[in-house]
Amino acid sequence: MRIGIYIGSLAACLCLLPRTGAAGSTGEAGIEKRIDKLLARMTLEEKIGQLSQPVYVRDDQELLTRIEQGLVGSLCVTESQIFTPAQRNEIQRIAVEKSRLGIPLLFGFDVVHGFSTIFPTPLGLSASWDEEAARETAAVAASEARSYGIDMTFSPMVDVSRDPRWGRISECYGEDVLLNTRFGVAAVRGYQGENLTSPTSIGSCVKHFVGYGMSLGGRDKQFTEISRRSLLETYLPPFEACVRAGAVSVMTAFNDIAGIPASANPFTLRTMLKERWRFDGFTLSDWDAVVELMNHGVAGDEAAAAERAVTAGVDVEMRSATYRNLVRSVKEGRVNIRTIDDAVRRVLRIKFRLGLFDRPYVDEAVAMASQLTPEHRAVARRTAAESMVLLKNNGVLPLSPDMKLSSLTGPFASNRDLLGWWTGHGRQSDVVTVAEGIRQGKPASMTVVEGSAARQSVRTTVICIGESGATFGESHNLTDVTLSRSQIEMVREAKAGGSRVVVVLFNGRPLVLTPIMDYADAILVAWHPGVEAGNAVADVLFGRVNPCGKLTSSWPKDSGQIPIYYSDRTSGRPRENRYLNVDGQPLFPFGFGLSYTQFRYGDLRLSSPSVGPQETLTVRVDVTNAGTCDGKEIVQLYVHDRVASVTRPRKQLKDFKKVFIPKGKTVTVEFRLPADELALLDADCRQVVEPGEFDLWVGTNSHDLLHTVFEVK
Ligand code: BGC
Repeated sequence: MRIGIYIGSLAACLCLLPRTGAAGSTGEAGIEKRIDKLLARMTLEEKIGQLSQPVYVRDDQELLTRIEQGLVGSLCVTESQIFTPAQRNEIQRIAVEKSRLGIPLLFGFDVVHGFSTIFPTPLGLSASWDEEAARETAAVAASEARSYGIDMTFSPMVDVSRDPRWGRISECYGEDVLLNTRFGVAAVRGYQGENLTSPTSIGSCVKHFVGYGMSLGGRDKQFTEISRRSLLETYLPPFEACVRAGAVSVMTAFNDIAGIPASANPFTLRTMLKERWRFDGFTLSDWDAVVELMNHGVAGDEAAAAERAVTAGVDVEMRSATYRNLVRSVKEGRVNIRTIDDAVRRVLRIKFRLGLFDRPYVDEAVAMASQLTPEHRAVARRTAAESMVLLKNNGVLPLSPDMKLSSLTGPFASNRDLLGWWTGHGRQSDVVTVAEGIRQGKPASMTVVEGSAARQSVRTTVICIGESGATFGESHNLTDVTLSRSQIEMVREAKAGGSRVVVVLFNGRPLVLTPIMDYADAILVAWHPGVEAGNAVADVLFGRVNPCGKLTSSWPKDSGQIPIYYSDRTSGRPRENRYLNVDGQPLFPFGFGLSYTQFRYGDLRLSSPSVGPQETLTVRVDVTNAGTCDGKEIVQLYVHDRVASVTRPRKQLKDFKKVFIPKGKTVTVEFRLPADELALLDADCRQVVEPGEFDLWVGTNSHDLLHTVFEVK
């Protein structure tokens, strides 16, 4: 038996060894030398092959032949065509053992909010304001995916988005630059871990570079008109931070930037990304974004599209196959071979860093044992509960254990469609429904009747409504984000029947809840929480978890207010920035979320009334848990430059802290604000710290805040 195990694992180890590529690349210098040697042996066709990322389709013989010919560098794997680890090894074997140079393939996949264990959608997770949750969920996803044979994820998406009509708002971390930056960096760290060669790390491809979240009118892939200022202030910073955190790849976007498509934009790709930020990984176009340069009207044929993209700095082409034309473009002198060599070097560098040359295969047994483990489920349950946002509560929550009869109803009560968009390798059959979570988690004394909303004897009705995973996500845009009429009716009828009404909302985007505000006694935003949905909802409803999430988008009163966001600029007549029928305020402001306890803020104080441009201001505030249970509070710090050379946002989030405060206790929360974080872009887009007075606020959301003023000298 022991011998059997030994031989079995030895065989497994042997089959993991590659045919080519001497093992043990020693550091970065060693990698560059190995790349030099490989480049010297590659034909132009093989080089361009490394720049091609076709989509993997099962049993596509032509694709397998191209892999054998060394004409494919990486594969884009999709949810509907996902392979088994064994099949993945077989494909890899063709590249490593049958192609002339034995260069391993890199397998990319959308591991967006989990691989087998699905976590809350990114917008939902951002409501936890907990970067550690972003890191931890990404690390779990990476361990499942890498063991399965996925080397790179097309994630995180750090497209700042302020338009809930746009279906892809669910994939970003909300409307704010700082949140997208911090969550993006945490996700990159979680995916990539300490060491990319680790069997639990994957490469991270941050997307979509850049400005895709601007989505004019909420329409996906619509042209965008983005000024240099908003590019530099709003859309680029999260990418820069992710690149500096080590993201190995960057995906170019579908939109255009002031007339130049993002996938052919030398300013963003070469000047900013590769030169100023010294990004040394590879850029990857989004799906067909290179061939679509023809639709944009900036390339007349496929060869011209390829030439524009590669010259602008797009190293690898996803799905479309225009780069095959580059062989001729180089031979005829329209594209410099140095451009191609640089792009190939970048791809090979990342393959070396990922350890693919030394360890191209995965262990199939390890792969299967690594998926959806109880430990991973526990992370999913915890992060889902931490992401939930309590928008209203007139005292009905938490449901009390001595409640005799309660009912559970609504289209999402027994529905497993709670995984959101990009479900990776997750399965709906693994989802715990709300009904199951409540049945398992309710106090023994409580009777729950499923599916009867308006019975007289029922004192409290829990209604699960919202939107299905198919109503948000890529190309799933809406003109109106108000709850559906039938769901509004359901809430009103339950109230009319005499029940106290608890609404649990499952949603990918901010929704307009105005029509139910007078009828719901409590509203809990659960997002699409992932595999542990029902357990996490039960944890919050029964008070085992005190809700602490806060919105990372402003929720409008009416769809016509969109875009509405807290950091818009001051104007000449703010009072007129409204409509005749609706005022200029959101229904729920950015940063809003209630708790089962109450927090009181007091004694906001500064280390000094003024700071020099090189100095740091220390800000302290006392936060008291004045309620009856322990809780976590997300303390937010905002600033505003009172008089500057250019208009400034009304408020800008500069820092936040999530703190646990036991009931009855007061904690002092401290922030350090270096004056250089108050820099702005002047009229010529140069970064300067201008002297003058600043408003500073600290508080529980972007609206309810303590205020003070300080001066920058
Ligand atoms: C999406 C990307 C995604 C890619 C690969 C595209 O349509 O825009 O976000 O990574 O497909 O699936």
